[in-house]
Amino acid sequence: MGSENDIFDDIEGMVLKDAVKLFSPIVIEHFNNPQNMGALEDPDAYTFMSGMCGDTIGIFVRIGGDKISKIGFVTNGCGPTIACSSAVTSMAKGKRLDDARKITSEQLIEFLGGLPRENTHCADLAVNTLRGTLAKLE
Ligand code: FES
Repeated sequence: MGSENDIFDDIEGMVLKDAVKLFSPIVIEHFNNPQNMGALEDPDAYTFMSGMCGDTIGIFVRIGGDKISKIGFVTNGCGPTIACSSAVTSMAKGKRLDDARKITSEQLIEFLGGLPRENTHCADLAVNTLRGTLAKLE
């Protein structure tokens, strides 16, 4: 008879099998291993934004010179929201502020290897939150 752990492994395997049908390997990687997760202490700027679905993302930055030296995010959102937050913060980290402000949802979706249409608003929310944080520095 299988242990409780085997049952959880089975459920995790089933969830992953379904996720693989819907999402690119890059989305799944960012969801399973999110980059830059967590709020920053003493950020130079931060913003929280919520989408119409109710999910919220917060993005925090520290600036060094004219570049983003540190960046972190928090979210209460679903897997694609975590993946979008992880990816957009990875794209912005180390960039000059002017370049980070130009990151678009289309570029984020391309970076992630695509997103199902029902999750493109997760990319919009991640990009808008980054822009909102950077606008606080102006
Ligand atoms: Fe709404 Fe991801 S489901 S932001």
